[in-house]
Amino acid sequence: MTKFNKKILITGGAGYIGQNLTNYFLKKKYKIYIIDNLSTSKPINKNLKNKINFFKLDLVNKNRAKLFFKSKNFDLIIHLAAFSGVEQFNKNVLKSFNNNILATKNLVNFGFRNKNTKLIFASSAAVYGKVSSGKINEKHNCQPVNYYGLSKLACENIINNSLKSNYVILRYFNVVGSNISFKITKKINSLMDIIGKKIKQKKYKININGRKFETKDGTPERDFIHINDLCEIHEKAYKYLTKNKKKITLNCGSGIKYSVLDVVKEFEKNIKNKFKISYRITNTEETKTICANIDLLKNLLKINIKRKKLNDLVKDYI
Ligand SMILES: NC(=O)c1ccc[n+]([C@@H]2O[C@H](COP(=O)([O-])OP(=O)(O)OC[C@H]3O[C@@H](n4cnc5c(N)ncnc54)[C@H](O)[C@@H]3O)[C@@H](O)[C@H]2O)c1
Repeated sequence: MTKFNKKILITGGAGYIGQNLTNYFLKKKYKIYIIDNLSTSKPINKNLKNKINFFKLDLVNKNRAKLFFKSKNFDLIIHLAAFSGVEQFNKNVLKSFNNNILATKNLVNFGFRNKNTKLIFASSAAVYGKVSSGKINEKHNCQPVNYYGLSKLACENIINNSLKSNYVILRYFNVVGSNISFKITKKINSLMDIIGKKIKQKKYKININGRKFETKDGTPERDFIHINDLCEIHEKAYKYLTKNKKKITLNCGSGIKYSVLDVVKEFEKNIKNKFKISYRITNTEETKTICANIDLLKNLLKINIKRKKLNDLVKDYI
């Protein structure tokens, strides 16, 4: 069987990462199926919708999930469906927690009747919790400091305890950028989304969450991964699983950290305009710094992360 008829199911495929992955894999001639309950996204863009098979389905609904998988088989399932974003998550912790756990539980219970079906799970750097300033590898202790991170760790545990092998857990760091020409309406806006929006509205004012963090310039530091690199990681992870029936957990970052102030300055450079910056503290629980050690990712998947410079990361937003 060639990749031209390989079937990929993307749960939560109507969301930001899902639509970008869909676009990427369609170009590579994979057959794409999406299930999404549209709880945090808008209906999938029509340019993509007529090239895929879309099913409006809530993975939390056990009977509907069971029925769906009864008649379908996939080569790969990419499991993105979740409530995410700490602020959004905390608005209704119990509902959000249940959503992520039950969706994952139903998927692993019903989605893998065929032993050849492979799984890629979208986990998060939030599973690590508070970390020191060095780069963290996958063996680092997982002690989430928020319920979102805890839900992702619980989902990892469900997968590790239910499936023997044939899966990759990807711990995404901060995903940025886009490979699609149309706009995706997002419920959770990242730092770059917010700055990009302000530029479009010509509102050159921004608040940074304090400047007393123990970092090079006092503002929080993050590891950003461009969506195109992330898409390539998924393709390579799938290829890895077709050759090795294993289970692995991999960090997905660029291995480089930038501060929030670095990001604002890079935008300023691009638009040749200055932002008026305030430093009001709005989130007392913000992680001061986090950066991925990506040695395992590079060695196992033989991948080279291409977009590491800040300019490559911000340009999709201008
Ligand atoms: N965006 C990032 O930087 C980032 C970082 C780390 C991890 N992640 C993880 O990656 C995944 C995708 O993130 P995203 O940014 O595209 O989020 P998103 O909110 O844009 O997409 C999530 C999608 O899942 C759907 N969904 C939620 N619960 C569902 C359910 N019970 N049944 C069916 N569909 C459901 C939503 O409607 C939405 O379309 C999430 O699991 C998220 O936790 C994202």
